[in-house]
Amino acid sequence: MDVPERPWLPKKPWLGVTRPSWVMILIAITLLGLSWLQMSPTRPVGVATPPASGDAGAAPVEHPSSSCSGFYRPGGGRRVVCSIEEFGGVGDGTTSNTDAFRRAVEHLKAFADEGGSQLTVPRGRWLTGSFNLTSNFTLYLEEGAIILGSQDPKEWPLIEPLPSYGRGRERLGARYISLIHGDGLSDVVITGQNGSIDGQGRMWWELWWNRTLKHTRGHLLELMNSHNILISNLTFINSPFWTIHPVYCSNVVVKNVTILAPLNAPNTDGIDPDSSSNVCIEDCYIESGDDLVAIKSGWDQYGIAMAYPSSNIVVRRVSGTTPTCSGIGFGSEMSGGISNVLVEDLHVWNSAAAVRLKTDRGRGGYISNITIANVTMERVKIPIRFSRGSNDHADEGYDPKAVPRINGVYIKNVVGIGVGKAPVLEGIEGTIYEKICFRNVSLGRLSPKARWHCEFVAGEAYDVFPTPCQQLKNNGSSSWCRYS
Ligand SMILES: *[C@@H]1O[C@H](CO)[C@@H](O)[C@H](O)[C@H]1NC(C)=O
Ligand SMILES: *[C@@H]1O[C@H](CO)[C@@H](O)[C@H](O)[C@H]1NC(C)=O
Ligand SMILES: *[C@@H]1O[C@H](CO)[C@@H](O)[C@H](O)[C@H]1NC(C)=O
Ligand SMILES: *[C@@H]1O[C@H](CO)[C@@H](O)[C@H](O)[C@H]1NC(C)=O
Ligand SMILES: *[C@@H]1O[C@H](CO)[C@@H](O)[C@H](O)[C@H]1NC(C)=O
Ligand SMILES: *[C@@H]1O[C@H](CO)[C@@H](O)[C@H](O)[C@H]1NC(C)=O
Ligand SMILES: *[C@@H]1O[C@H](CO)[C@@H](O)[C@H](O)[C@H]1NC(C)=O
Ligand SMILES: *[C@@H]1O[C@H](CO)[C@@H](O)[C@H](O)[C@H]1NC(C)=O
Ligand SMILES: *[C@@H]1O[C@H](CO)[C@@H](O)[C@H](O)[C@H]1NC(C)=O
Ligand SMILES: *[C@@H]1O[C@H](CO)[C@@H](O)[C@H](O)[C@H]1NC(C)=O
Repeated sequence: MDVPERPWLPKKPWLGVTRPSWVMILIAITLLGLSWLQMSPTRPVGVATPPASGDAGAAPVEHPSSSCSGFYRPGGGRRVVCSIEEFGGVGDGTTSNTDAFRRAVEHLKAFADEGGSQLTVPRGRWLTGSFNLTSNFTLYLEEGAIILGSQDPKEWPLIEPLPSYGRGRERLGARYISLIHGDGLSDVVITGQNGSIDGQGRMWWELWWNRTLKHTRGHLLELMNSHNILISNLTFINSPFWTIHPVYCSNVVVKNVTILAPLNAPNTDGIDPDSSSNVCIEDCYIESGDDLVAIKSGWDQYGIAMAYPSSNIVVRRVSGTTPTCSGIGFGSEMSGGISNVLVEDLHVWNSAAAVRLKTDRGRGGYISNITIANVTMERVKIPIRFSRGSNDHADEGYDPKAVPRINGVYIKNVVGIGVGKAPVLEGIEGTIYEKICFRNVSLGRLSPKARWHCEFVAGEAYDVFPTPCQQLKNNGSSSWCRYS
């Protein structure tokens, strides 16, 4: 099927962004948002569907069963509200505001147990190095506010590697802190009105490309050991590394967020819930150089020892593109286990894969009770892919006998258009991927030679086209898949 391009988007919207082009993009996004809200069966496929923004008139209808309500519970109010300008901030795009942000948070910390606080960032371009957040705290970006990541690596101090990784993900030892960071916090809101946080990551990608990176790159936003977090109504641009990284967290909501990075920017994952529980990601538009959403839980023997799983995760109405990676990824770091995940209304186009499970020998851990439903994929090379053995280990100390257990992956109501291949499901010898269920999956016209490729997997399939592999041939006597 012929699919319209997105002519309103400049070829590389993140380069040389001019205000008029942003206005155009926003108008387009608004119009698309409206057409998405009024989605009818005749809606042309292939149209980008960013989150509905600027809902003209009708108030958004919140269905408790299909919203993130309950995941974030607003604590107290925010008794003290300050502007970054009160701490000497200058939003001219060149003055460093690192000290202003650090002083502001230091000051507002005192109000955590005295009614809470908010730091407001007004219109302007606020260049800064890394700063930390505090508890009972809101970081609010007003319309036209842009936080810009410093281009000086010294403004991104080194911190300890995560214990569940045992080392920096890219380089041994310490890692660069994230631009916006928090550890051991509760009730944190990062929101605004069409504001953006731009990591200006190109310098970091170049260090990676030219192999002179000394330590693992920092995230744009990382929260560790934190509870009750809301991230909403903002745009995150050009992260050095994974964009939003909640790790060892619980009750995290990421809603109505746009994440943009060049499609070739290395490891610029959108949102990576890592060893975290009760996470709800909803209405996000993501285009980047790596997985749109990747659920993780630590690496090899370090992740196994820490045994800190990711569980109870909802990913709903996420759309976007990533030419070399996947819409939703599980792993490859999954050594602490991943369970009870619901992914629904996923829309992925021009991507390497829509759904991908990545594991390896040495990972240990498990992936269980995963439901992926109502997926539309267009021009995706391998629609659904289980892969193994990229030989990507923390160090030589991994245990090759530590094989992951995969039990219960339910994939249903999938429509593929312009899909390149049939699913590739490669399990690992010595363990079996059990209860793999496909139901109502239609991948459209593939080449007549397209065959499912399955190894070390077992399960069932109903109403699936093209015809699935032998390993998924149902014998009609059970109902766990058919009626799941
Ligand atoms: C945050 O505010 C709540 C409610 O006022 C209070 O119970 C809690 O102790 C505060 N948290 C911190 C870290 O001060
Ligand atoms: C959003 O912000 C950009 C600049 O940051 C501005 O050009 C645009 O007009 C704003 N759009 C809306 C809908 O407020
Ligand atoms: C921010 O927190 C990290 C650890 O969580 C700490 O190492 C760093 O010194 C803090 N930075 C500032 C500016 O307080
Ligand atoms: C989504 O966020 C944008 C600002 O980035 C805001 O203008 C819009 O109203 C939000 N949409 C919803 C449905 O909350
Ligand atoms: C690598 O990239 C960085 C960041 O752009 C640059 O400063 C450095 O000079 C480059 N080094 C080499 C050897 O190309
Ligand atoms: C996002 O912004 C819209 C419009 O201002 C507001 O109604 C909504 O409550 C905000 N949502 C969140 C989750 O912050
Ligand atoms: C499977 O996960 C869903 C959430 O996606 C949860 O509601 C359900 O209780 C889980 N089932 C089991 C047996 O844990
Ligand atoms: C998928 O879509 C169907 C039909 O619109 C809906 O009933 C269902 O709740 C959606 N989600 C899941 C997980 O099946
Ligand atoms: C099959 O999936 C399609 C696409 O999600 C959906 O429209 C249709 O209702 C599903 N059919 C059944 C019987 O669930
Ligand atoms: C059908 O499959 C079930 C479990 O999936 C198995 O217990 C049963 O023996 C199988 N029956 C036949 C006739 O193969």
